[in-house]
Amino acid sequence: MKKIAVLISGQGNNLQAIIDACYSDYIPAQIACVVSNKSDAYGLTRAKKALIPQSVFLRKDFANNLAMDEAIGNYLEKQSVDLIVLAGYMKILTPGFTQRFAGRILNIHPSLLPKYAGLNSYQRAIEAGDTEHGTTVHFVNEEVDGGAIVLQAKVPIFPEDNVEDVEARTREQEYQIYPLVIKWFTERRLVLKDNVAYLDGKALPEHGYASEDDEEK
Ligand code: GRF
Repeated sequence: MKKIAVLISGQGNNLQAIIDACYSDYIPAQIACVVSNKSDAYGLTRAKKALIPQSVFLRKDFANNLAMDEAIGNYLEKQSVDLIVLAGYMKILTPGFTQRFAGRILNIHPSLLPKYAGLNSYQRAIEAGDTEHGTTVHFVNEEVDGGAIVLQAKVPIFPEDNVEDVEARTREQEYQIYPLVIKWFTERRLVLKDNVAYLDGKALPEHGYASEDDEEK
């Protein structure tokens, strides 16, 4: 059975969705460990309740980011994890780390990438007057929120919406699409080759599976 590591910094709602999906056998994998860079992350409590080993790596305990990521990488290698899932891990990984685990790191970002990479995506979408928003699961490379897109989910933005409304609507989608993509990966249906994501041997379009750019072809 494939082994997954989940990296978190906070609430761990996505982590919970992944835990539930593994326990119900929807994802045929075992969560080998949960790693946090914050000792008070609520996701650690979720991991504890699910009897998943947890470890905390604090930046202040390392000379630099490189040393911290190397220690995390060594820990993950010792656990022989097949896939590293970033679920609200709020620290940029060093290129050394992303290259070491190339093709084996997934992230979820709350926007329709490449739009609104980085922070405050909900606020930025509302301020721009957008009528839709969404979330993206993608492979991770050295570019922040920049790796090959696997799957996106769209939600509407209504004129009366505030940040909380758009976030709640988007999060609902995250808890669906992230477990699905992790399932594909653990079933070996999803792979990354030369920075291109392939599902069942077919290269995915720029905005991921079943996106409009696919239909245009
Ligand atoms: C999610 O919205 C995800 O898109 C972003 O960080 C948030 C993490 O939330 N990367 P949680 O910790 O899973 O509740």
